[in-house]
Amino acid sequence: MPESNPKFYYPSTDVVERANVQEYEELYKRSIEDREGFWAEQAEQLDWYKRWDKVLDESNKPFYKWFVGGKTNIIQNAIDRHLTGANRNKLAIIWESESGTTQSFSYYALNREVCQFANILKSMGIKKGDIVTIYMPQLPEMVFAMLACAKIGAVHSVVYGGFSYEALASRISAANSRILITADGGSRRGKKINLKEIADEAMKRSPTIEVCITVKHNNLDVNMEAERDFWYHDLKSLPIASPKCKTTILDAEDKLFILYTSGTTGAPKGMVHTHGGYSVYTSTTHKMAFDIKPEDRWWCAADPGWITGHSYIVYAPLINGSTIIMYEGAPNYPYPNRWWQMVEKYGVNILYTSPTAIRGLMRFGDQWAERHDLSTLRLLGSVGEPINPEAWRWFYDVIGNGKCPIIDTWWQTETGGFMVCPLPITPLKPGSAGQPFFGNEIGVVDEEGNQVPVGQEGKLVIKNPWPGMARTVMGDDQRYADLYWSDYKEQGYYTAGDSAKIDEDGYIWVIGRMDEVLKVSGYRLGTSEIESALVSHPSVSEAAAIGLPHELKGHGIYTYVILNEGVTGDKVLQKELQEHVGSELGKIAQPEKVTFVESLPKTRSGKIMRRVLRARALGLDEGDLSTLEE
Ligand code: PRX
Repeated sequence: MPESNPKFYYPSTDVVERANVQEYEELYKRSIEDREGFWAEQAEQLDWYKRWDKVLDESNKPFYKWFVGGKTNIIQNAIDRHLTGANRNKLAIIWESESGTTQSFSYYALNREVCQFANILKSMGIKKGDIVTIYMPQLPEMVFAMLACAKIGAVHSVVYGGFSYEALASRISAANSRILITADGGSRRGKKINLKEIADEAMKRSPTIEVCITVKHNNLDVNMEAERDFWYHDLKSLPIASPKCKTTILDAEDKLFILYTSGTTGAPKGMVHTHGGYSVYTSTTHKMAFDIKPEDRWWCAADPGWITGHSYIVYAPLINGSTIIMYEGAPNYPYPNRWWQMVEKYGVNILYTSPTAIRGLMRFGDQWAERHDLSTLRLLGSVGEPINPEAWRWFYDVIGNGKCPIIDTWWQTETGGFMVCPLPITPLKPGSAGQPFFGNEIGVVDEEGNQVPVGQEGKLVIKNPWPGMARTVMGDDQRYADLYWSDYKEQGYYTAGDSAKIDEDGYIWVIGRMDEVLKVSGYRLGTSEIESALVSHPSVSEAAAIGLPHELKGHGIYTYVILNEGVTGDKVLQKELQEHVGSELGKIAQPEKVTFVESLPKTRSGKIMRRVLRARALGLDEGDLSTLEE
């Protein structure tokens, strides 16, 4: 009888026998001893218009450059090179809506769509380096829009479709975008959400927008303003939208996209990623960790509006010539077997998702999965937050039938791609993301930067540059250097903001964020953003937000509010404040609870001591209170 909770889970022989990477230790050693050689070898597997002169330029740390002198465009590898070979008529994208409508695009068809979109953008005066904001539900056109920007050297800034108009407006303004691409709606749980209405509100606050292109999806009645608003299908029928467009030749270090993410303080920061290094890093990690084969059907069940979607719905799978599954809808709507239906219908081979989604489906019981033939699955994946062993085992046993390794990938918006993850051939430990990916030295260190002993908690650092790293925070090089590279300046370490432990086998166990960042259903939110949203309500004087463990979401948001003089806190106001945060930031940021308080624990310098709030809420020891103001 198999052990009920073994220390290691070993991959099945057929997975191991076919794996792209057959051995970890030796190759890892080689990738560290000759990092540049390793990455050059990977880069050689892609097409370049001109080969690079130098793999890594370290002359201006921490502003590293990769494949310097190389000429490329991510589209050359994601689309163009597939058009001449066997992939030309292969399916690139299979898209399905919640209600079951489907669309599919071969690489040939994808190219036509992207060329048309690119020509439309060009006709609107979009040039290399311009930032185009995209605010859409998970539709094929969202991917076309992203790829079209890349093709002509424009930079996309995708704002997740669940964000509010405030969040959208601030990102448009920060990027100085002239063009916004949106849709008349998305669907979730049978409800139609009118995204164009939200976009209209955002545009009222964003004077830089000159043109808004709207994709018709829901047939909703929307307001179209003359000279500003255009339907995508109208533009597509004009002669400007020719299906032929030459891909712009770019430098490896030219910007591909910016993507906003939350941090400790201040407004979300736009992380900048580039064409060359990002192409190499995402495609290599995807191919090696997820063992991508030409015939695979790959489903990354994230939203393209987040880094997981950028890297592993869109770019890496296309570079690797995969067939991508996209699903616009909730995992459990109309029934908790919606995903398993998709897996069976399309014969999905690899499913990559989040602990939140797994926990959310697990609670409905095994029977929903058992109704379906999931035998095509070969590998499973997890990302976004630490996965609890119980959810891991359910995913492994019930969905993977005990034969699919779970690739638990630790990484961040800033890293572009996987930093710590198992390979299909490595033994697994439920809850641990395993060992560093090739080329990376990962440390768990104390305040001085010394490795902490086995089993002890420390700061997770990356000791080296890697090709997929974000190059800067848009418009703020200093912030980039300060936020990520200043804790261990002497050693040159990158601090991730996570705490972790390393065990006796060298496996890394990520514990969670050390800063004031919450992971709610895998989404990253700063406590400061939630607090600002609360304070923007006329009844609120001060606010504090903390994350507390939540069975499904990982973290739930709990808030403490001091009201203005004369305002009484009651249930109605509580609800109003919850909804206010939801409408300011987006539904994902809506607090579980609003508690009215007379004062907040603060340091003498006026900083809210969230650790004290957390300890109190959990009934734990409040720790050192010596810095607490009277
Ligand atoms: O705390 C870590 C957690 O998510 C953070 C990065 O969030 P974001 O930039 O939104 O990117 C999420 C998708 C890559 C990390 O600092 N995190 C991500 N993956 C894992 C994880 N924590 C534990 N295990 C993971 N596999």
